[in-house]
Amino acid sequence: MCGIVGVLGNHQVAPLLVESLKRLEYRGYDSAGIATVNDGKLDRRRAVGKLVNLSDLLVHEPLAGRAGIGHTRWATHGAATVANAHPHKAGTVAVVHNGIIENFRDLRCELKAAGYDFESETDTETVVVLTRALLASGKTPQQAVEALLPRLHGAFALCFLFEGEDDLLICARKGSPLAIGHGDGEMFVGSDAIALAPMTDRITYLEEGDWAVVTRAGAEIFDAQNRRANRAMTRIQVDATRIEKAGYKHFMAKEIAEQPAVLADALRHYVENSGGVNPALRLPEGLDFTQIDRLTMVACGTASYACHVAKYWFESLAGLPCDIDVASEFRYREPPLSARSWALFVSQSGETADTLAALRYAKDKVAKIVAVVNVSTSSIAREADLALPILAGIEVGVASTKAFTCQLAVLALLALKAGQDRGRLTAAQVQAHLADFALLPGLMNHALGLAGEIESLSDQLAEAQDVLFLGRGPMYPLALEGALKLKEISYIHAEGYASGELKHGPIALIDNRVPVIVLAPRDHLFEKTVSNMQEVMARHGKVLLLSDAAGVAEAGAGCWQALTLPQVPDLLAPILYAIPAQLLAYHTAIAKGTDVDQPRNLAKSVTVE
Ligand code: F6R
Repeated sequence: MCGIVGVLGNHQVAPLLVESLKRLEYRGYDSAGIATVNDGKLDRRRAVGKLVNLSDLLVHEPLAGRAGIGHTRWATHGAATVANAHPHKAGTVAVVHNGIIENFRDLRCELKAAGYDFESETDTETVVVLTRALLASGKTPQQAVEALLPRLHGAFALCFLFEGEDDLLICARKGSPLAIGHGDGEMFVGSDAIALAPMTDRITYLEEGDWAVVTRAGAEIFDAQNRRANRAMTRIQVDATRIEKAGYKHFMAKEIAEQPAVLADALRHYVENSGGVNPALRLPEGLDFTQIDRLTMVACGTASYACHVAKYWFESLAGLPCDIDVASEFRYREPPLSARSWALFVSQSGETADTLAALRYAKDKVAKIVAVVNVSTSSIAREADLALPILAGIEVGVASTKAFTCQLAVLALLALKAGQDRGRLTAAQVQAHLADFALLPGLMNHALGLAGEIESLSDQLAEAQDVLFLGRGPMYPLALEGALKLKEISYIHAEGYASGELKHGPIALIDNRVPVIVLAPRDHLFEKTVSNMQEVMARHGKVLLLSDAAGVAEAGAGCWQALTLPQVPDLLAPILYAIPAQLLAYHTAIAKGTDVDQPRNLAKSVTVE
């Protein structure tokens, strides 16, 4: 993953680089570093751990200069040490890199044989050492980068800084996103526009294979064939890039609490008269579900669980056969795709490397590529035939919360459209569902009111070694999501299972130390889920039941704990029940004292495969 930034400023750039890195820290926080050119001299500072360690270092060892590059790292090759931290430097050149150089071993051997030394275990260092070798052969910086790029296999966003050159950055993009920002007599480079937002709202996105020579006068962009390329400059909405906790202790808490509001925004966008009389779907042109006989949905992590829930909806509401897969498997299993199908990709960041590669695999094989994304300027949004924004607003907490519920909402609306197009739902039925949807923000507010109860039982959950989540139907993928949320931020081992599957193996795990969280809205599967819950209780499992008042009254006796949610229409249950699942993870993580917004080993945007 990693985040990169470059600045050619009119003032000292170190504070700007650090501010940008703060906005990129969601991409990794194993180490951070910056390099500048000052009076022609190239120097750098690097520190292991969170960005704050680099800021502390800079207080004691400041770095002057009006040109610089910076990096925040999610370790791929080599542990989180200072030697492995970026910027990497060799001779008169320094580089920051996001991605993986797959042929780094070959390059390293070649360069070692030519007498060059290496200081780190990283793949990135080969880039800078090879550049050094090319410079030593008499090439200019621009010629050296031009000669270097075809030698690199894999994915990269790179930004180079050269000794003696305080008006030059060279950057390149292949497989990893990169944006160029335009200031007044200043220029910027960043992994995304968010990083550059405090400095400029004028952005040019590099396309696949592009590289650019950046000076304070502007950027000269070349395509993969080294031809001059014109890339449009767009203005981003600075509002959309505001990052603040607004009084909450954590971004995750803020983002959980924002869900009723952002979901209402999404509904206003996609539903005419949302909350009023005669609501109607307002989806973009080009979504005629009579044109297809199959839908393939692909994503990673939480977004893949949103697809999994949506499979139940598309199949039951629209009779539309659906395949779902995680992108890292889909992209390599050579799935046959029909020209009478669409492929739908779901991604909060829109930059997830596996999802993007899966999208590219599906291109030209299916009738349409649809993307459901949060970041509408992202690569996935731009490469899809049709991109539907989920309008969740910027999500900073590494654990996805509001993006998940907004993804579900948009997918549910698509399933209603599919049902209507395919004659499985009448207009009146769709309208009734949309009227239900209008109640959802209010129901979500009720669910948020469970925070106090959840907090008081989280101390006990925090003691657990293992936790199981159970659900049936669309609540099964929600069980998977609940388990993912808990494990990623509290580090407690958690698994989600389809309730009916428990007896085929996992029930062996049950004893009186294993909390089992049962997601059981009173839908047509309620009785069956409760039977499976009884099987757990018969083996002394500690059941935490999540249901509505009638469900808790009917089945709550003998449970360790029960949480009462508002009654909810079946279609909306997975969206509503996501909230207590998120709160359980959040409060358990607080009880354990983990780093909620930046859990260990993770990053928000996974731009490596
Ligand atoms: C978990 C989480 C991840 C992401 C996954 C895909 O809380 O956030 O599992 O859902 O990395 O990311 P996007 O949606 O950006 O493609």
